Amino acid sequence: MLYEELGGHATVERLVQCFYDRVYEDDVLRPLFPPDRTHVEHAQIKFLTQLTGGPKQYDSYDPRLNLAMIHRLLPIQHTHALRWIELMTLTIKETVPDPYARDRLTERLQIGAANVLRICEAHQSE
Ligand code: HEM
Repeated sequence: MLYEELGGHATVERLVQCFYDRVYEDDVLRPLFPPDRTHVEHAQIKFLTQLTGGPKQYDSYDPRLNLAMIHRLLPIQHTHALRWIELMTLTIKETVPDPYARDRLTERLQIGAANVLRICEAHQSE
């Protein structure tokens, strides 16, 4: 399971904290995010745990964990997606010790970010 290869809960938690430290300092991404980062962090830890095959969450089906549902109405553009990927890639490099697990996670999240952008652009042009 990718989850264990990454380093389990400790790594996922550290990764998410470091990532949002960057996001909330970032001029491009910060304006998109709610002032209170606690909820976003918890939701992201749950999401990444599920995505990488970690232990089932108690509320095992939460439709908000669907990427399209979460982001569809946000004004996300190309520059936001690029910055998101840049900060996430940097954070993964710093927090995931295993190079193979690191590459797999980076690749998955890059695909995820491309999907988010596609969904938002489709909605903006409706
Ligand atoms: C194109 C790149 C992305 C951008 C710009 C972006 C932006 C955002 C923003 C602004 C929020 C906060 C929404 C709000 O509460 O008002 C959010 C929430 C979230 N995003 Fe993303 N996102 C991106 C990609 C991703 C990807 C690839 C994932 C999956 C790994 C993801 C997972 C989440 C989760 C789990 C939440 C919290 C949802 C909740 O509140 O329950 N995002 N994102």
